[in-house]
Amino acid sequence: MMDTVERRAGNAHVKTAATLRYQSGFGSELATEALPGALPQGQNSPQRPPYGLYAEQLSGTAFTAPRHANRRSWLYRLRPAVMHGAFQPFDARLLKSAPFDDIAPPPTQMRWDPLPPPSAPIDFVEGLVTMAGNGDAGLQTGIGIHLYACNHSMEQRFFYDADGELLLVPQEGALRVATELGILDVKPGEIALLPRGIRFQVRLIGASARGYVCENYGAHFRLPELGPIGANGLANARDFLAPIAAFEDREGSFELVAKFGGGLWSASIDHSPLDVVAWHGNLTPYKYELARFNTVNTVSFDHADPSIFTVLTSPSDTAGTANVDFVIFPPRWMVAEHTFRPPWFHRNVMSEFMGLVHGVYDAKAEGFMPGGASLHNCMSGHGPDAATFENASRAALEPQKIENTLAFMFESRYVIRPTRFALETPQRQKDYLDCWQGLAKHFTGKP
Ligand SMILES: [Fe+2]
Repeated sequence: MMDTVERRAGNAHVKTAATLRYQSGFGSELATEALPGALPQGQNSPQRPPYGLYAEQLSGTAFTAPRHANRRSWLYRLRPAVMHGAFQPFDARLLKSAPFDDIAPPPTQMRWDPLPPPSAPIDFVEGLVTMAGNGDAGLQTGIGIHLYACNHSMEQRFFYDADGELLLVPQEGALRVATELGILDVKPGEIALLPRGIRFQVRLIGASARGYVCENYGAHFRLPELGPIGANGLANARDFLAPIAAFEDREGSFELVAKFGGGLWSASIDHSPLDVVAWHGNLTPYKYELARFNTVNTVSFDHADPSIFTVLTSPSDTAGTANVDFVIFPPRWMVAEHTFRPPWFHRNVMSEFMGLVHGVYDAKAEGFMPGGASLHNCMSGHGPDAATFENASRAALEPQKIENTLAFMFESRYVIRPTRFALETPQRQKDYLDCWQGLAKHFTGKP
């Protein structure tokens, strides 16, 4: 069972004295029980499951999805998930959902400073602010891109997202994410994935936390194919950690908030839905430490396309053309000879939303702040700022270690449409384009 510290009322920060245990393997068939013998053996749905538990299947893909893509888990719980009141509309504040069609997206390159911290007590759900997105939640294509900022643990409130899976990228402050399938502690430098429909609470370990969320309406994030890289490399499957079963038998006056059909809904529930005593399957929350990413790149000249830094990909129905890729720019050696080493100038059919967990991104000498964001949409030119270009064009090409940095990108085949809030917030850097205006014309008319 969950320890008593987690049951305290008030804005109790979660203690982390008890080290959590995890199971490893991406998409693996896992099995776990918090009480001995709780997991039925040899079948999924016995007439009477052990301990008087209810059996419930949670399907993350259609029953008939191909075996390599099929995701489902069997949950053995105190009460089935259906036991709650009717849903009523819930104020979504600045949380928006696809289709993002309330304002035309300009092709202008954009960048934002971090949002100011919330001034009132606010939990993870209340503190979601949507910056951009694309596709259609109801059609299960595209993504929502949100920032979260909270200074209060979810206590009486539980949440699930029926519109998509949630990829959390913490930027400040550690989170204890208590889910139906168990508990994940996640800190900056790690990511967490919460499958569509999984009920959870976000509890604070420190006083506050903030970060980024990719709400993936499309196909499950999965590991990218490795092609000629071989059987190992990039994010290795064994480094993805799923929780072990942990349940709470807690009755009281609680609230279940759902994101469904683009909006938020609230229902009363008289018990904690985190009451799964045992489970098995391959649809699980998981976390991953980004420092485990095995970075691969050139050892001769010309760095590879940034797809080489893909941690997870959500494919679309066009081969090699992602609904969304989650890409990181981690610490790494730069050794390319006679090469302009920072990201080159480029225009892509894919659209790019970037965030920065810590440090300085190697294409921007200044202005891209940890907790900030940038958006370079389909066919909008971008690349290193003027200072970075000048320095990199003259630098001695010694082996160089890029250290103390962690930038990332949500890259999508669909145009990423900023919200009205993102376009109009004072945190949008109105002078962002200036970072390129100082690029000198070096043309000499001679080779
Ligand atoms: Fe780019």
